[in-house]
Amino acid sequence: MRKVIRGCKRISGTIEVPGDKSISHRALLIGAIAEGVTTIEGCLAAEDVLSTARCLREMGVRIDGLSEDASLSGASASLSVHGVGGANFSAPQDVLDAGNSGTTMRLLLGLLAAHRFEVTIDGDESLRRRPMDRVAIPLTQMGAHIVGQGEKCYPPVSIRGGELRAIEYKMPVASAQVKSAILLAGLFADGITSVIQPAASRDHTERMLKAFGADVVVDGLKVSVIGGARLRAQHVAVPGDFSSAAFFMALAAAVPDAQITIKSVGLNPTRVGFLEALIRMGADVRIENQRAVSGEPVGDVIVTGTERLRSINICGDSIPTMIDELPLLAVLCSIAEGESLIRDAQELRIKESDRIAAMSSELSKMGANITELPDGWRIVGVRRLRGARVESGGDHRIAMSLAIAGMLADGETEIDGAECVSISFPQFWEMLEGLVECPS
Ligand code: S3P
Repeated sequence: MRKVIRGCKRISGTIEVPGDKSISHRALLIGAIAEGVTTIEGCLAAEDVLSTARCLREMGVRIDGLSEDASLSGASASLSVHGVGGANFSAPQDVLDAGNSGTTMRLLLGLLAAHRFEVTIDGDESLRRRPMDRVAIPLTQMGAHIVGQGEKCYPPVSIRGGELRAIEYKMPVASAQVKSAILLAGLFADGITSVIQPAASRDHTERMLKAFGADVVVDGLKVSVIGGARLRAQHVAVPGDFSSAAFFMALAAAVPDAQITIKSVGLNPTRVGFLEALIRMGADVRIENQRAVSGEPVGDVIVTGTERLRSINICGDSIPTMIDELPLLAVLCSIAEGESLIRDAQELRIKESDRIAAMSSELSKMGANITELPDGWRIVGVRRLRGARVESGGDHRIAMSLAIAGMLADGETEIDGAECVSISFPQFWEMLEGLVECPS
């Protein structure tokens, strides 16, 4: 599908974005192993989360209220997960399909490490290029048998779990998916399983496991779980996804006189690095109505446009706090005043696509002055981008970042492969159009 975007100078509105993807995955997975029926309000009904639901259903977990077809589900769903009470999944009839979702595959491998049957998990073309050794190595140390393709354990991956040993694992990368896989396996290990992170990554798993009754101890960058706890079903209210809201924050910040209010957005400190970056770039940001929902900080975010944003340098420990927003940040840097430098973001090369290469090539087509570095970009801001024909490469966050670039450009931008937004944000195009005050 191709989408045509026209640059627009008048933007305003109040919106609520769909539920947080990371929290929705975790509510399904943790609800599935708890005792009793977990209810999830505002669960994201997008392809990635449906992949998690599909895999769980194939292992005997009953999930009510979530359609198997993303297009039938609407923005978010209220659903119930009938927990099987521990490592009690049944062996699936067939290969499990994690679709495009790295979170599904990696977190599920953590739970499957505690199951005695053998199962294979596969994914789409993009997921087949993503390394699973980062979870296979620690889970093997804990006692699981895991076989993938090639040196980096690419999917399809087969796993046979069983009795697990507790480990203390020093993580080579700051990845919430790796941390979560180990903690989920650690629930079923004999003793205390600890992970030591090189930098803080999103902590939704730790928060949710505590709420379900697990013994989780956080000591700086070290997170430990004591094996053997019985998890009890909970009600989980999922806040709006910060990563989806970020596209509209960026748009409002870069269009003079624009104003967008995004209500009930998750504001977990491990996720909001992009908001801090926006403020450093000179954006006018206000947060109201701050509160806690199901153990997660939530608030309304109001962003007002400024004449011109300033350049920024980002590196080191702040990278994991805005990892999914970096392609969008590259868009803003490409029209900000001065030279921006984004480093230490080599993880972007192994996301749903090589996001460093994708943004360099596509923003260049739009007239940006962007240089690809091994671990990021050097970007010298230009006054205006110009519309061009660009390509998402099947990566949802690239498609949406390019849409914002198109809104900020002169003329028309055509985005090929626009349908992939359904991975995380099926209503994106509609919501974007609703904010435009000058349709042509
Ligand atoms: C996620 C963690 C991040 C992020 C991904 C979702 C999660 O990946 O990029 O979109 O839900 O745990 P890494 O853990 O690999 O950094």
